[in-house]
Formats: sequence, C-alpha cells, structure tokens
Amino acid sequence: MLSGVALITGAGGCGIGSAISRAFAKSGATKLILTDINPKTLAQTVDAIKSASSSSSSSAAGAGGIPPEILALDGDISDTRFIDHLFDQVRSKFGRLDYAINNAGISGNNQPSDQSSISDFDKITNINYRALWYCSKKELEIMKTQEISSQAQTQTQMQAQGRGQRGSIVNIASQLGIVGRPDAPIYCASKSAVIGLTRCDAIDAAPYQIRVNAVCPGIIHTPMTDNSLRPALIEGKKDMQRPMDLTESVNIAPMRRMGTPEEVADVVVFLSSEKASFVQGASWVVDGGYTIN
Ligand SMILES: NC(=O)c1ccc[n+]([C@@H]2O[C@H](COP(=O)([O-])OP(=O)(O)OC[C@H]3O[C@@H](n4cnc5c(N)ncnc54)[C@H](O)[C@@H]3O)[C@@H](O)[C@H]2O)c1
Repeated sequence: MLSGVALITGAGGCGIGSAISRAFAKSGATKLILTDINPKTLAQTVDAIKSASSSSSSSAAGAGGIPPEILALDGDISDTRFIDHLFDQVRSKFGRLDYAINNAGISGNNQPSDQSSISDFDKITNINYRALWYCSKKELEIMKTQEISSQAQTQTQMQAQGRGQRGSIVNIASQLGIVGRPDAPIYCASKSAVIGLTRCDAIDAAPYQIRVNAVCPGIIHTPMTDNSLRPALIEGKKDMQRPMDLTESVNIAPMRRMGTPEEVADVVVFLSSEKASFVQGASWVVDGGYTIN
C-alpha cells in the first residue's frame, strides 16, 4: 500500500505514534524516521518493528518481507533546534520524504482557563501546535522540491489518472479539536488550531500534488488516557496530567468503548496512501461516534 520514506513524530512507547510506525513498516514503507522525546520508549518501537520484520511471517514484515531502514532520533519536538537537526538528517540520509505523520502531543493540565497558568499554555501549545506547524513547514519545503514518487508499482497508471502524489502529511488532531469538554480549554484549542492549519496547508499544497489531512482520534487506550501506562509516572518523574476517570466520556460515544492505537493507525495509513488520492484537507474522526452524539 505504501512505499518510500516516512517520518513519524511521537513514535515511542505503546501509543498511537508507535502503532502508526509499526503499521507503516508493515504496509511497505522502505525507510522510517522515528522520533520521540523519550529514548527508551523510542527504542521499544524500533525493537518491535525489527522483531516483526525478522519473524518468518511475511505478513508481519514490510512489503516482500524486507525490513525498513530506520533512523531513530530522540529529542524535544518543541525545540526548533532539534527540528532543524531532524530535517537536516532527513535530507542528508534519505534525500526525500514521502509521508509525514505529525503525532507528538501531550494532553495537558486538565484545568479550566482561570486555573491555568501561562506556563501551562506555553507548554501545551508549544508541543501540540507550534512544533507541529514548524515540522509541517519543513516537510512541505522538502516535498515541494521532490519529484513525484516513481516507486509504487502502479505509479504510471496512478499518474495518468492524476492520482500520483509528491508527498502526504497527516496531522494528529483530536475529537477535542471539534468539540469541547470540561477542564481542557488549552488542549482543545491546540487541536482546533491543528485542524485549521491542516485545511490551509492543504489549500496551499494541492497545486504541488501534496495532500495534507488530519485524523481526530476519540478516546484511545494509550499512555495518554491510562495513567498506569505512562512512563513518566512509572519512573516517578513530574507529570502535569492528573489521573482521569474517562468512563463518562467513553460512554458519550455510541460504540461505548475506547479505541485502540491500531484502529487509528489503519486510518492514517489509508489517508497517507494513494488510495486516498482525492482526500484533501479533511479532518477524519476515528472516535466510535463521539462527535455525532
Ligand atoms: N489517546 C487519546 O485518547 C487521544 C485522543 C485524541 C488525540 N490524541 C493525540 O494523539 C497523539 C498521540 O497521543 P497518544 O495517546 O498516543 O499518547 P502517548 O503519550 O502515548 O504518545 C505521545 C508521544 O509523544 C511524545 N512526546 C510528548 N512530548 C514530546 C516532545 N516535547 N517532543 C517529542 N515527543 C514528545 C511522548 O513521549 C509519547 O511517546 C497526540 O497528539 C494526542 O494529542 C490522543
């Protein structure tokens, strides 16, 4: 379904970014650039991909059973110097970028505006929106100057139909970029900003045959929603997020369950691929129906 070079931010651990990284490897991406602030959890994702690729089952490895080449770089995505370094590496090591998934994010402080501080605002916004915008800028710079990929077997036919692409970006927003909830004004606004950015970048990038879309997950079982999975808590580090009881929120969605990271990853792979060649500027909810209720 995929071929070429993919970048995934927030790729460590057992959350959505890790599932996307594994799904890209399985779907045929030949080169992966994976990044996360946490070197330990980033290494876990790399190990998971390597062990799936080396297993004898060809369905667990990439297309044709060939393991992808992986460049793993740990660093703080809210630091523009790290992002500059990251994209210097993308250019010098791989020379092109076919797919970018801007996934790194934090849930925030779970407080209303009047009980939040400017440092809460800056921390959440810098990671969820400012860093995502700066990564998008760098991704578009690379994608605009590269040729339409000729790696896909169906490329000639796809190009003839106008379906070929120079690149695809998927931004991970949230159902909370579309609707509100108590105690989350800064987080919700950061995700609404991502949806707005996605629409505008999609308009500007369309003439270059670059697609830009967002995915808006509902409540997904990851370290963000299950404190027992959070590495920062396990290691006893300071964490801005308070324990959450999400039972009420889960029951708002007609499907009345949490989603899995893999259910989000499957939609991201589809949106990244040329099978989604006429999907542009969309914010695709993967939320068990939360936002229709
Ligand atoms: N889990 C959910 O219910 C849910 C719902 C809607 C949207 N999302 C979004 O999905 C994305 C992934 O979240 P998740 O649920 O997998 O959580 P997660 O905590 O498992 O994953 C987030 C990853 O981002 C990394 N990260 C955090 N700050 C970083 C920084 N400054 N620099 C680099 N990496 C950093 C973390 O180390 C982590 O690996 C986030 O953008 C989140 O807002 C999650």
